[in-house]
Amino acid sequence: MESTATMRFDVLTLFPEMFSGYLGQSVLKRAIQAGLVEVHLHNIRDWAEGKHRQVDDRPYGGGPGMVLMVRPVVEAVEAVQAMGTPGRVVLLTPQGRRLDQRLVEELGRQPRLLLLCGRYEGFDERIREILDPLEVSIGDFVLNGGEVAAMVVIDTVIRLVPSVLGDEQSSQQDSFSGEERRLEYPQYTRPPEYRGLAVPEVLLSGNHPAVARWREEQSRKRTQERRADLLAEPPRDINDESRQRRPASN
Ligand SMILES: C[S@@+](CC[C@H](N)C(=O)[O-])C[C@H]1O[C@@H](n2cnc3c(N)ncnc32)[C@H](O)[C@@H]1O
Repeated sequence: MESTATMRFDVLTLFPEMFSGYLGQSVLKRAIQAGLVEVHLHNIRDWAEGKHRQVDDRPYGGGPGMVLMVRPVVEAVEAVQAMGTPGRVVLLTPQGRRLDQRLVEELGRQPRLLLLCGRYEGFDERIREILDPLEVSIGDFVLNGGEVAAMVVIDTVIRLVPSVLGDEQSSQQDSFSGEERRLEYPQYTRPPEYRGLAVPEVLLSGNHPAVARWREEQSRKRTQERRADLLAEPPRDINDESRQRRPASN
């Protein structure tokens, strides 16, 4: 199962059916059809033993809930790794590094990601020790499972895969992107006036340098008002070769 796509995701989950609607949505569906992105789903339960194919058990030391067992999870990851050139294992957990656009870009430099989705009370700690995964959180809150977090990772990373967005959309214009990582400027479309609210005249002027200047000012103003912390960050070095698309070393 060697991949020819630019980016390959393998999702390890107890609920692969949760992804069917998501995989059929517009941007991702087109990227898969164009052969730019591959998403393979694997049910961790396929690596469970016994009549009941048990994947979770009660925590040692007592306490509520169930814990994902080390053996089926580790063996599932090892078997999936062997299905192609080994990729980076990403373990989704509220205890991981918080996802932001920088981390999205780091993940986007990997040709293959294995996304490991937890459930219940989470993972037996030895899963971390054996697999040495990159632990990623999508925010300081607790989801019921890692599936939605895996979809967030896929959704953000594929925007950076060349040709996925097409010519008309560029991820470089997005908030947190580009050299300065500011918020995007306000956007308008037809009609030119609605309930007394008019589109700024400069956007209707056809004067492209003036439009660019207005957008630049608005982007800076909006960032200052809403996220001044972003302006405090040093701008990215556009010659920084770590931004080039290549497998990261971690
Ligand atoms: C109910 S949570 C377990 C939380 C765990 N008991 C703790 O307090 O750290 C079940 C699973 O959902 C996923 N999950 C929950 N919140 C997440 C978040 N903020 N980011 C990424 N994954 C999350 C993880 O895969 C986790 O193993």
